[in-house]
Amino acid sequence: MPPSVIDHHQDAELSNNEAKEFLLSLPKERGWRTSHLYLFQNFWCQPKEIQAIISLQKHFQAQENDLLVATIPKSGTTWLKALAFAIVKRTHFNTSLSKTSHNDHPLLSSNPHDLVPFLEYKLYANGRIPDLSTLFHDQEPRLLATHLPFPSLPSSINSSDTCRVIYLCRNPLDNFISVWHFLKGMRPKTLPSLSFEDGFEMYCRGVVGFGPYWDHMLGYWQASLEQPQKVLFLKYEDMKEDISVHVKRIADFVGFPFSLEEEKNGVVEEIVRLCSFENLKELEVNKSGKSIACFENKSLFRKGEVGDWKNHLTPSMAERLNKVMEDKLAGSGLSFKKYVPV
Ligand code: A3P
Repeated sequence: MPPSVIDHHQDAELSNNEAKEFLLSLPKERGWRTSHLYLFQNFWCQPKEIQAIISLQKHFQAQENDLLVATIPKSGTTWLKALAFAIVKRTHFNTSLSKTSHNDHPLLSSNPHDLVPFLEYKLYANGRIPDLSTLFHDQEPRLLATHLPFPSLPSSINSSDTCRVIYLCRNPLDNFISVWHFLKGMRPKTLPSLSFEDGFEMYCRGVVGFGPYWDHMLGYWQASLEQPQKVLFLKYEDMKEDISVHVKRIADFVGFPFSLEEEKNGVVEEIVRLCSFENLKELEVNKSGKSIACFENKSLFRKGEVGDWKNHLTPSMAERLNKVMEDKLAGSGLSFKKYVPV
């Protein structure tokens, strides 16, 4: 894609005609839940998202201490949003799930996506240019989220020394399975069906929302090496292995470390329980409603396990995706535990 096309269109929001013309100029591939995905700024996305992304890149102004949760879809975004919210707001609300005390913690009555909104899916979606000073009145830090790759973040985030970005990714085998389950039911009947094998093929070629997956990871990985005080790079599997350690890491990173007294009083464990899959999944608010347009809240909580790919991928599929990732991540220092085909 010629850079001049992107640059030109980043200067202004697109009129309908311009938008159509612009879309026609982009490489496209068969989509997962829309007819096509388009390669915009070197990642795959849907037309609606492109409009929102152009708008937020133009209008969003980072503020000192903004905290951005960044992920590729189906890597544990909902979990990380809940944790970030619970950690940062822990002195405002009761984090205990004890039945003996009344608890009005927002995570018990709101989906994490309502508490930590997406820039592209919520705040700047559908042509909106939000007044963030009203929306986030008196809130510091502002908690925001995105699926954008690092190089496409609004320039005011990239140039700020004080914004923080927490990035979460996941081993691609489980990520693919999670994407597959999430999107398969959403494919409109008007589109030709997409088989599991087709989806796998697309994923291995990097054709998935905000992918290629490896580029997404490598962008944030590199940034975390260059600016460790700004970008914290996390993996879902590590969090599952020892979530308490990660809650403390996140708290340190965002500048809200736990005091000795908090640790003694079990606040870390309370937050772990509050944000756990088991707790969030069973809440009324997460069993119904749609906090992100088009997606049922309940579909955000499927299994929450490491290694579910073993129930779905053949050994040769697992081997192939492992090999793709090994090749793509070679020399970067980033790796995932080897998932040996069974
Ligand atoms: P599975 O489909 O493997 O179950 P995202 O939030 O980015 O959409 O990611 C969704 C994945 O995270 C799903 O994985 C979902 O079950 C899992 N998940 C959601 N909430 C979780 C939590 N509190 N703890 C761990 N995993 C969670």
